[in-house]
Amino acid sequence: MTFPALRMRRLRRTPKIRDLVRETILTPNDLIFPIFIKEGTSDPEPIHAMPGQFRLPLNKVVKEAKNVTSLGIPAVILFGIPVRKDETGSSAYDKDGVVQQAVKAIKKQLENKIVIMTDVCLCQYTSHGHCGVLKGNEILNDPTLEILQKVSVSHAEAGADIVAPSCMIDGQVQAIRKGLDHAGFTNVAVMAYSAKHASYFYGPFREVAYSAPSFGDRRSYQMDYANSNEALQEVELDIKEGADIIMVKPALAYLDLVYRIKTKFGFPTAAYNVSGEYSMIKAVAEKGWIDEKAITLEVLTAIKRAGADMILTYFAKEAARWLAEK
Ligand code: PBG
Repeated sequence: MTFPALRMRRLRRTPKIRDLVRETILTPNDLIFPIFIKEGTSDPEPIHAMPGQFRLPLNKVVKEAKNVTSLGIPAVILFGIPVRKDETGSSAYDKDGVVQQAVKAIKKQLENKIVIMTDVCLCQYTSHGHCGVLKGNEILNDPTLEILQKVSVSHAEAGADIVAPSCMIDGQVQAIRKGLDHAGFTNVAVMAYSAKHASYFYGPFREVAYSAPSFGDRRSYQMDYANSNEALQEVELDIKEGADIIMVKPALAYLDLVYRIKTKFGFPTAAYNVSGEYSMIKAVAEKGWIDEKAITLEVLTAIKRAGADMILTYFAKEAARWLAEK
């Protein structure tokens, strides 16, 4: 059947008909809210390049987590900003490190009312800002794995439900899975930043977390943004190594990957709507050139439509409020 017998506009005629045939419904359940926690502060610090986001002191974290749950968002991912940095990032696995303390506090107050995810990486914790240990200017692979194991186990001991390695060091998922199992944390899941690209969209985040590399860039470990077959290979390896959830990062300029990966593997798939994607919308909205609410819901729905089961986004709280208004 074709026109004039078939008319596509029939099912677009009224809002109720459109509701009925809508294929992708965004809900707060799809969202994960990233929280930055800064050690050694007592007041939230607004982040200039990310309007509406803050570096939170430890004493405000539980309140924020409660706020997130009250909006119907099931999960947070925690990023630490430590006082102390060194060559090997040892404050990342400090029992009383900033993330470990935050996890403990949230777990104690909220138990299983929220899913606690933690970012497992070294760049915020190393004096040189790279995601692994160095020999000269080279980022070493295998010696970094042992440190990532320690970081993951320390997060699990504090009460993390899911650890999320984001270093793009080969073998990180396998090493972390082994480390967790060995320490008795067989129920702690791994969300792997599998297809994480060396992206200019991370600019605002690096300012937030003081984690820009002091020399060079991350292109010897993060993926070339021009590659997609390689992204599929990265995902396949992480699944084999024991990942429970895989991730594509960034999201918006990478929807082809979200689609291909979800279609090919049918695996729980996350997409990270990163800092630069957030800041771009905020900046244009401040100028009054777009409708922020409408654009944000369109973007997040499109990420879900492409195949993401969950979306890490700084818009999570606002989006949940906007969805409740609709
Ligand atoms: C740490 C990490 C980064 C992001 C998440 N984890 C920064 C980077 O790789 O430089 C970026 C998140 C964002 O831009 O929102 N490795």
